[in-house]
Amino acid sequence: MTLTTPMSPDGPPSVRIRDLTVVYRTAAGELPAVRDVSMDLAPGTVTGLVGESGSGKSTLALSLLNAVQPPGRISAGSVDIGGLGDVVQLRGDKLRQARGGQIGYVFQAAQNSLNPLKTVGKQLLDLGRSHDVKDLRALVAEARDLLARMGLDGARVLDSYQHELSGGMRQRVGIMLALVLNAHVVVLDEPTTALDMITQANILEIIREIHAERGLTTLVITHDIGVVAEVADEIAVMYGGRLVEQGPVRAVLGDPHHPYTRGLIQAIPRLTGDIDEAQALPGRPPTLTTIPDQGCVFRSRCALRMDVCDTVDPLFQSTGDRMVACHAVAPAATFTTTTSESEREMTPSRAWSGIGSGRREPAADGDGVVARETNEGDSA
Ligand SMILES: Nc1ncnc2c1ncn2[C@@H]1O[C@H](COP(=O)(O)OP(=O)(O)OP(=O)(O)O)[C@@H](O)[C@H]1O
Ligand code: SF4
Ligand SMILES: [Mg+2]
Repeated sequence: MTLTTPMSPDGPPSVRIRDLTVVYRTAAGELPAVRDVSMDLAPGTVTGLVGESGSGKSTLALSLLNAVQPPGRISAGSVDIGGLGDVVQLRGDKLRQARGGQIGYVFQAAQNSLNPLKTVGKQLLDLGRSHDVKDLRALVAEARDLLARMGLDGARVLDSYQHELSGGMRQRVGIMLALVLNAHVVVLDEPTTALDMITQANILEIIREIHAERGLTTLVITHDIGVVAEVADEIAVMYGGRLVEQGPVRAVLGDPHHPYTRGLIQAIPRLTGDIDEAQALPGRPPTLTTIPDQGCVFRSRCALRMDVCDTVDPLFQSTGDRMVACHAVAPAATFTTTTSESEREMTPSRAWSGIGSGRREPAADGDGVVARETNEGDSA
């Protein structure tokens, strides 16, 4: 079945995040949950954003909508979206129209964020009116079509209240609401968390298909590297509010350069082989109050830690096929000019030679795990 809304005539938009910092007001003052992040989402790609709980994934994603709520605020940086300009500067009606209209967002725990007092159809009409949609019949037809595309009986779902739908159905309703106004940038925050494996696989397939058919630029946020491997072209890895590695998904998963990415991958239990090969990442991720304000944010858990890591922020720079922020990973220039054996020892594969074997011990322990659901809202 073909979707009624064709690919954007201008093609999928680009997303260009530059030097973005988002702070939350706390008892200890304003602390950054996202610090100095620069990142591109290439037009037409699916990017998977991963990182442990509290690493700043949802805060970064909300910035794409300029929807960080108090006590948070975007304190620096820009988010340029093709055709829209810098979203951080948008205000009032323009911002309201951009949300949902050009940027579709499925909030974390979307399956619980529908209004329990209104049918899905009523919420759809509210969304249409709030975006000045003139032809509400066409909007309903589009919603039915999208729901059918996702294997649901559109008419029945539109007549239902949230409690009459399963978790997987509500998640698909969230995706429908994010797409129905013809958004071309789509952000899905944990779209498959809390769903069973079959529903999860089904939703990922739908996301991939709709992404391709509609010509979208898509950001999928997840804890689960398996989800990224399934659905994404690019992977971006966050830790302590910083982006630490970004590149093509196959290259990064096949040969992670950053110690944190490597730790995340080593922690995945395999279905085949020795189950003991999975090594839990030692230590704990930092909280807002324990993220170090200088030096590498990952150093308390890093087996490659050096003196420089304590005082100097590693630059997020190209190492050839990807971007990495780590003092132990040589930047791209070294790859092209390497001639001697000693210089070759600086290449990432050499830097890793001691890491894959044996269990690693953290240099020091971090502090408290953050496990919370945050910033839910209306997917309009
Ligand atoms: N409203 C808020 N007030 C204060 N701190 C907040 C608020 N929302 C988020 N934070 C803090 O900002 C940091 C990043 O949170 P965020 O929700 O963006 O992380 P996340 O990577 O999406 O985590 P999760 O995987 O649990 O969803 C965390 O330390 C969190 O405690
Ligand atoms: S080697 Fe240094 S910069 Fe690289 S991840 Fe470890 S602590 Fe951070
Ligand atoms: Mg989150």
